[in-house]
Amino acid sequence: MRRVVVTGLGAVTPLGVGIRRTWKRLLDGHCGIVNVGLRDSRFDAQPCKVAAIVPEGPRQNGGWTASEWLSRDDERKMALFAQYGLAATEEALEDAGWKPTASEDLEATGVCMGSGIGNFDEIYDTVVAYDKGGYRKVSPLFVPRLLINLGAGHISMKYGFMGPNHAATTACTTGAHSVGDAARFIAYGDADVMVAGGAESCIHPLAIGGFARARSLATAFNDDPAKASRPFDADRDGFVVGEGAAVLVLEELEHAKARGARIYAELRGYGCSGDAHHMTAPKENGEGALMAMKKALKSANLPPLSVDYVNAHATSTVVGDAAENAAIKALLLGSNGKKRPSDINVSSTKGAVGHLLGGAGAVEAAFTVLAILENVMPPTINLERLTDDFDCNYVPQQAQENTINVALTNSFGFGGTNSSLCFAKLIL
Ligand SMILES: *[C@@H]1O[C@H](CO)[C@@H](O)[C@H](O)[C@H]1NC(C)=O
Ligand SMILES: *[C@@H]1O[C@H](CO)[C@@H](O)[C@H](O)[C@H]1NC(C)=O
Repeated sequence: MRRVVVTGLGAVTPLGVGIRRTWKRLLDGHCGIVNVGLRDSRFDAQPCKVAAIVPEGPRQNGGWTASEWLSRDDERKMALFAQYGLAATEEALEDAGWKPTASEDLEATGVCMGSGIGNFDEIYDTVVAYDKGGYRKVSPLFVPRLLINLGAGHISMKYGFMGPNHAATTACTTGAHSVGDAARFIAYGDADVMVAGGAESCIHPLAIGGFARARSLATAFNDDPAKASRPFDADRDGFVVGEGAAVLVLEELEHAKARGARIYAELRGYGCSGDAHHMTAPKENGEGALMAMKKALKSANLPPLSVDYVNAHATSTVVGDAAENAAIKALLLGSNGKKRPSDINVSSTKGAVGHLLGGAGAVEAAFTVLAILENVMPPTINLERLTDDFDCNYVPQQAQENTINVALTNSFGFGGTNSSLCFAKLIL
């Protein structure tokens, strides 16, 4: 099987526009979660009034200004999630030094860009307009702004990439599936380079209301938004919806070497599972999560003992974090693994960026790659108090240095779909 490496990174997140800026602010313990009740009274009328929002402002200050990335015409045609995806792609391609023009290169480059929810605002606005004014109120851009795969489509149109063009939509596992599936396209020879990632922007009162009704969201920290997302902490009470996008440029190893590309890490393994159990709740023992991690290590051909760091999915829900914690311990402890729970190093970055739903897996894959590159584990902010079964090292509050040769990053989605990616330092 052909080997797959990471040669470029890009991101637009609640911690800022740009992967380096995001990463630095993450390591410094910042948080991108704000109270949205002040922006729109409809949020204020709901139990959850917080969200993780991409900051507005000029790019040089780490803010989002659409006109710095897109023409006015493209802005009109594209959903916000797709705009974030395009900006993250631009950064990642620059970073990788891959802007091909030869037709054989364009044919060998593809895109996997997914989203979990897509363009919620568009549906809402069009439904309201249609209800009042009927057919003539439906915009000719309604469908193109709605379809989730148009994120990937716009990227291919802008750069001329004619390789596989694909969009997973597997709720909160979307980003991880996009990255993993893209790697398979390369491994099987369908492409030499893939733009792979996930994007989300659905901070709409109706979307937040829906997640709140499903009893998924944090509601106890509306007055102290930076404390609302607290993975693994005893007082966690739900996740915080976030927006943004991240992109990894994945490349076949020999292709990257031949052009002298800088190689961040190798994508060694990818595992997927479904836990055939419940719409929104995991099995308590974390069986589905365990199976995904096991499969990722199997495809990486690595033992549990080799795992230096786990970037957890942990969204700050009571049940989900506990199930994942159980799964990680079940995977990493034992004869082929670590001796004590305290030997397990795991953190969740969702305290800082919230839960980007379809973007989460891609953002966290980028963080995991940087953790390997810089030998540092990003912190789990807001982790103040642990209950009994939480006896690993969760990197509370502050980043920790640690030589990281192998790392896993988990993503789990509603519907019971679980995935894990295994990244490692490249060994030639
Ligand atoms: C896989 O992910 C989703 C969301 O947490 C869940 O519905 C499913 O049961 C998960 N399995 C786990 C965590 O074991
Ligand atoms: C976990 O991280 C700490 C640094 O905080 C490091 O000293 C330790 O060796 C790591 N453990 C493992 C098993 O990687």
